[in-house]
Amino acid sequence: MTREDVARGLKDRARQAEEIIRRYLPAEEGYNRTVTEAMNYSVLAGGKRLRPILMQESFRLFGGSDGAGTESPLHPFMAAIEFIHTYSLVHDDLPAMDNDLYRRGKKTTHAVYGAGMATLAGDGLLNLAFETAMRAFDCENAAGSQDAVVRALRILAAKAGIDGMVGGQCADLAAEEKPQNSQTREELLYIHRKKTAAMIESALMIGATLAGASQEDVFRMEQAGEKIGLAFQIRDDILDVEGESATLGKDTGSDAKNGKLTYVSMYGSAQAREDVEKLSREAVELTAGGDGRNFLQDLIEWMITREL
Ligand code: IPE
Ligand code: IPE
Ligand code: MG
Ligand code: MG
Ligand code: MG
Repeated sequence: MTREDVARGLKDRARQAEEIIRRYLPAEEGYNRTVTEAMNYSVLAGGKRLRPILMQESFRLFGGSDGAGTESPLHPFMAAIEFIHTYSLVHDDLPAMDNDLYRRGKKTTHAVYGAGMATLAGDGLLNLAFETAMRAFDCENAAGSQDAVVRALRILAAKAGIDGMVGGQCADLAAEEKPQNSQTREELLYIHRKKTAAMIESALMIGATLAGASQEDVFRMEQAGEKIGLAFQIRDDILDVEGESATLGKDTGSDAKNGKLTYVSMYGSAQAREDVEKLSREAVELTAGGDGRNFLQDLIEWMITREL
């Protein structure tokens, strides 16, 4: 596949994922209207929808079928992971965290609705994610796989929590306060693994779990997710220095402004690029399966030099 083919494949999948996500968004009415508006604004602002797409590709890799028409247990989980990811961005942008004003090509949620309402929109999305994922129990073809849905829920909860994304965001904020010469590689890798890789591991593991993959295969997807996630965050750090704000849909220079510990601040951009490449190649090997090369592998490779 050429780069253009992958970009096109990604766009198609993002459109399909968005159609699924929309089904689970809240109505905007009543006294809680403002929070639901802010939630919908944040989710529908745009975004690459990479986590739902990675989940779906992992599901397919292990023989899951989610044909149109019937509601697959995969679909509520695709929406759920995007809700959690979006909440993490809304809170990440708050004045008390990274204090950013642009996201997904639009004003950040707090810039439009205020910090209080943006905090609530994040809280609302986190709860909605679990309310949504639990709808997988009601799916017709979930009958024989209630146990898989329970395992998927455990993964969703743990990878977003204090030993996952929230833990990484904690270390990310704490590192801002430390002098640069006291920051270690261990700390940097903890931040990247937890704040970013955990959600990518979650996506791949849930897709495999819902497709009925073996424990070994789910573990292999966790390892692949870790490498993809590290590469993804290193690339994000590079783009924060070298990227185009208009293409990224968010302001660059945010990390320097906040004195963040990033891969680029510790190793420089040449080393960062090399490591993105290396980690991605290892992830491509871990995600082998199907007849020949699969889309997941093409996507991982596309991400090495992504500009958005
Ligand atoms: C941004 O994630 C936050 C990071 C983990 C680096 P994405 O780059 O996937 O953001 P969207 O969803 O496309 O807006
Ligand atoms: C945030 O990392 C990762 C999250 C858990 C939201 P960054 O702070 O680098 O993400 P951006 O650059 O604001 O998207
Ligand atoms: Mg941040
Ligand atoms: Mg940020
Ligand atoms: Mg960043």
